[in-house]
Amino acid sequence: METVLSGIRSTGNLHLGNYYGAVRNFVKMQEEYRCFFFIADLHSLTTHPKPENLHDNIRKVLSEYIACGIDPDRATIYIQSDVPEISELYLLLNMNAYVGELERTTTFKEKVRKQPENVNAGLLTYPVLMSADIIIHNADKVPVGKDQEQNLEMARKFARRFNHIYHVDYFTLPEPFNFGSELIKVPGLDGTGKMGKSEGNGLYLIDEPKEIRKKVMKAVTDAGPDKPNAPKPEPVENLFYLLRLMSDVSTVAHFEEAYNNCTIRYGDLKKQLAEDIILFTTPVRERILEIYNDDEYLSRVVRNGAEKARESASKTLRDVREIIGYKGF
Ligand code: TRP
Repeated sequence: METVLSGIRSTGNLHLGNYYGAVRNFVKMQEEYRCFFFIADLHSLTTHPKPENLHDNIRKVLSEYIACGIDPDRATIYIQSDVPEISELYLLLNMNAYVGELERTTTFKEKVRKQPENVNAGLLTYPVLMSADIIIHNADKVPVGKDQEQNLEMARKFARRFNHIYHVDYFTLPEPFNFGSELIKVPGLDGTGKMGKSEGNGLYLIDEPKEIRKKVMKAVTDAGPDKPNAPKPEPVENLFYLLRLMSDVSTVAHFEEAYNNCTIRYGDLKKQLAEDIILFTTPVRERILEIYNDDEYLSRVVRNGAEKARESASKTLRDVREIIGYKGF
């Protein structure tokens, strides 16, 4: 059975874009693959979170993923910092990662541009830690978005390099997981582009109904169609896209018809869309809160996850130490 692995940022709550773009696919993957999902709380230190927030961020993300259907009994879900073997492999990989190649990665260059006051070594070696995450379980496939493609390419490079230096065929070269046509890109409500945290246009699973209503009602539209069967400008098409995702077919048909015969009132569409989103998010939000407040359950999940992840990671690390030449006395 192939191994799929994905790291999850521990900053920020899940929005509908995350859900339809990734999390829902993870839920499907756990049926067919040996899955590792972990919270990348070591990576998160590059942004210097406050000690009083670090734990809570992890707890939130964990609760949200489980509430969405990641099943700790099927997939191995763990916290990166619970698996010290990852940090050790990171150290070992760093010895053959070159400053020049790390400086040339787009994500690093972008960070340097955006936050010149905090260009720490952790940012520079971010792709090395990510490589350690991936190859420590010999993952075959990694679901990555566009922004992480280069990091995955680096993981392949470091895995290949290790194999080459030590004349072994030890590490699997991880491939991007291809969702194919299943990939859904949820648009934002601000007219153009996709839903994203940094765009500030997210509808979050944890949002209260009144928050969702407020956000949807504020969505960008236009003056309305001026002739029958007019093409939809992007902001309007985005609203319809969300409607198709969240509402039933008859609702979609109703508003399509209203648009095509120019009787549409965007206010009505938005009201309906908001209620349908709330219908979807409410049970998820309730489950998130339930899990978030269940210390006993969470502690069990985290302990089991760490145990399963360490079993796999420590085997790799033992092999790697031996390949490098470390021997017992
Ligand atoms: N860098 C990823 C992100 O920002 C998170 C991540 C860390 C990751 N380690 C990983 C993703 C390993 C896939 C595999 O989203």
